Amino acid sequence: MIQMKKSKISVIGLGFVGLSLAVINAKKGFQTIGIDSDKKKLKNLQKAKIDFFEPNLSKYLKESIKSKKISFTENLAQVLKTDITFITVGTPSAKDGKIDLTSLKKVVSDLHKILKNKPTSHLIVIKSTVVPTTTTQIVLPLLKNLKNVGVAVNPEFLREGNALDDLMKPHLIVIGSKNEQDYKTLERYYKQFYQIMPDVIKTDQNTAEMIKYANNAFLATKISFINAIANICQKLPSVDVNTIAYAIGKDPRIGSQFLQAGPGFGGSCLPKDLSALIKFSEKFGDHNLFFKAVENMNQLQLLQIIQMLKSMKLFNSKKVISILGLAFKKDTDDLREAVSVKLVKNLLKNGLKIQVHDPMALLNFKNIFQEKISYFKKIEDCLEGANCCIILTEWDDYKKLKPTVFKKNMKERNIIDTRRIFDPAKFTEFNFKAIGLGPM
Ligand code: UDX
Repeated sequence: MIQMKKSKISVIGLGFVGLSLAVINAKKGFQTIGIDSDKKKLKNLQKAKIDFFEPNLSKYLKESIKSKKISFTENLAQVLKTDITFITVGTPSAKDGKIDLTSLKKVVSDLHKILKNKPTSHLIVIKSTVVPTTTTQIVLPLLKNLKNVGVAVNPEFLREGNALDDLMKPHLIVIGSKNEQDYKTLERYYKQFYQIMPDVIKTDQNTAEMIKYANNAFLATKISFINAIANICQKLPSVDVNTIAYAIGKDPRIGSQFLQAGPGFGGSCLPKDLSALIKFSEKFGDHNLFFKAVENMNQLQLLQIIQMLKSMKLFNSKKVISILGLAFKKDTDDLREAVSVKLVKNLLKNGLKIQVHDPMALLNFKNIFQEKISYFKKIEDCLEGANCCIILTEWDDYKKLKPTVFKKNMKERNIIDTRRIFDPAKFTEFNFKAIGLGPM
């Protein structure tokens, strides 16, 4: 078999998606250039220092720097040395919930100037999450009259904490393009990347963009659905939502994933994408009652926790609350849209004293709350003198904790397990409340 020369790759926007993508390309042997406008970040990356936590990313980055497969620059013109440019800049929520495309527009218009005189063909791949019609109505017009430049939409489905695995084994590749040549270029790259080619959906740009929103909105819906069921279970003696989720998850039409009831979904994607989808479709006069309900349901979960504290007579300024877990989920230090931030703000407003622990996100939390609360590196110290312990993130370290640790260190035996990591049967000596667990 003739071995095709590997494409040269550039990645613009070295956040969590862009950096993971750049590093995995380098690891797979593609010559890769990572581009970002943040000088401090670039300086750190050149020394293999990453400003967020993602399992194995740091190790692979070090290897890629050593093998000289990856380099970093702020100079966008370096894309000229490559064949394919992935755009992975952030598309955050504006204040009104709409998607903010400022960074994307800036990068695309700069690329227009740079790629104008490129003699060989170049493919721009939009990986940033963008609302439907962004590529056809904003990106393509900004790139007009570029002869050798193609554009494809190629949404990314990777999860924080699992990014590298998700990149290595995606459930699907979506390629949105109206141009057969652009589609083929991207497909060829993926054939070089994967030994076993994942399923590919070939579609147009608008559909590819909509697939990403539908995907994330469905995941958000599943979580809000199980949380709505959980809140009913909480009122029913001995009914546990985990049994319900297990049972309905066995139905192949439903599936078992994303049915873990909890304090509500956070992170950099689900809340932002749901809100952008709602705002986007309001343009067509749609009221979006369904997605608004999913969003409202998510916000309600915080009140469930406060309600539990109130019912335990712990919601007053004399009480010390110990919170285990701050990151929006385990295996990340990310606090974006984390329930922990909203909960602590609320508890502080009501005068409660807060002690927190997290294996990864403690420093990021301190940047928000400074001296207003107490931070602990050891779980036992965080429990010391507390009237109640709230588990907010499902870290594996917490799952191993025995009831004796709580008994020994806490002032009172109150536990709220929002992530359902403990077996309630082992905590019979406690006043134990949990999301989706009725009175035992
Ligand atoms: C999500 C999508 O899963 C991913 O495909 C997309 O590319 C980016 O957004 P991520 O934000 O990394 O990924 O986290 P995810 O694992 O989806 O969890 C999101 C939130 O939902 C977390 O707060 C998590 O704790 C919560 N969640 C998830 C639940 O409460 N219950 C579940 O069953 C699953």
